[in-house]
Amino acid sequence: MSEMRKKQADFAFREQVSTMARERMGISEIGEMISLVLENGALSFGAGEPSADMFPKEQIRDAMTKAFGDSDVWGYHHDEFGLMELREWIAGRMSADDMLPAWADAANIIITNGGGEAMSLVTEALVDPGALVLVESPTYTESLLTFRKQGAVCVSIASDDDGIIPDELARVVSSRKARFLYTIPNFQNPSGRTTPLDRRLKILEILRDSDVALVEDDPYHYLSYDGCPLTSYIKLAGDDKRVIHCSSFSKIIAPGLRAGWAVIPDALIDIFCTLRISSGLGRPLAIQKGIWHYLSEVDFAGRVEALRAEYRGRRGVMLDSIEKHLTPLGIKTNRPAGGFFIWGNMPAGMSARKFAHYAVKEEKIGIIPGTAFYPSGEEASGDGSFRMSYAKVSSDSIDEGMTRLARAFRVFMSR
Ligand SMILES: Cc1ncc(COP(=O)(O)O)c(C=O)c1O
Repeated sequence: MSEMRKKQADFAFREQVSTMARERMGISEIGEMISLVLENGALSFGAGEPSADMFPKEQIRDAMTKAFGDSDVWGYHHDEFGLMELREWIAGRMSADDMLPAWADAANIIITNGGGEAMSLVTEALVDPGALVLVESPTYTESLLTFRKQGAVCVSIASDDDGIIPDELARVVSSRKARFLYTIPNFQNPSGRTTPLDRRLKILEILRDSDVALVEDDPYHYLSYDGCPLTSYIKLAGDDKRVIHCSSFSKIIAPGLRAGWAVIPDALIDIFCTLRISSGLGRPLAIQKGIWHYLSEVDFAGRVEALRAEYRGRRGVMLDSIEKHLTPLGIKTNRPAGGFFIWGNMPAGMSARKFAHYAVKEEKIGIIPGTAFYPSGEEASGDGSFRMSYAKVSSDSIDEGMTRLARAFRVFMSR
């Protein structure tokens, strides 16, 4: 092979890779922890995913068979926002659950490739390189990556057990020009926190006097274990159409279907339509049809109740196990009212990052250090905390994992 040919065979895209890809995509700390869990054959409290035994496999298989029996799923679908029947189902569900404002209907709903793509489209629509995006402290890592990919500068707003602190938000909003505030109001990933109603109203009040939009990410809405979930920001905002609501079927059906949605105001419909066309036309109609067939037949309230009962049970086992193993060691954790996550704080001065690496290697138990959930430059703020999830671990494994974590902690402290 000639030298030139050899060089071409090794083509490394050095001159071609975009600045966005090269500079804005750091190594994900969650990815690093997942690799360490696999390498060490460890038990993991790290995965923030639904439990595979909760997927309605038989019903989805039947619904997909029906979908593929429909002749229209094989060609291009000419509605960029997705299957109208599914969007109508979502609009009906959200209205019944007091989550949809009067101005919105199925025409304002776009079906996306999971909630993740909803956030991508929102970011493409609203962020220019260098624009400011406000986030909770801590917040969901993947959204930080999505914002950063588009060139956003993310700044976190100080938050407490009830989410964003309104006075802190007011202070930042009055001094800096931000495009939007990103919030996960229910059973937040990673902190498990829920923003109470009065705080949601205060936050909307603060934004009402500004040019800042609000992006609400609510994939855990139905996974409430201590009573009914609160109504959405988009509904609470009423005629103030600054809120975009994003959600997902990942937690209530299965993440592998890659289906979610966004509710957007009329002012953004044409923009989203253009963005959708330029990023691969539509999303698979067959999947949307299958989901719609499933939802048309399932007892949705019963399905949600079954999910709540199962995850509520796992939450209880993990909380009891924490009390037995971690609380006596001075590790403080919260009690989430739903979702998948518990947030922990190490005793003062201790690095959760160093501890997480030690625990996965020496005791084969994975947790995610808090540093993973802060914008770049702010990572150190999370080094005293960590995230654990009970969603994907069986009750037996929870106690075993907690025993390992406590043992790792004792040795780590005594070194
Ligand atoms: C807060 C939050 N938003 C969005 C998502 C995206 O989920 P999906 O793209 O599977 O709908 C997740 C998944 O873990 C999440 O925790």
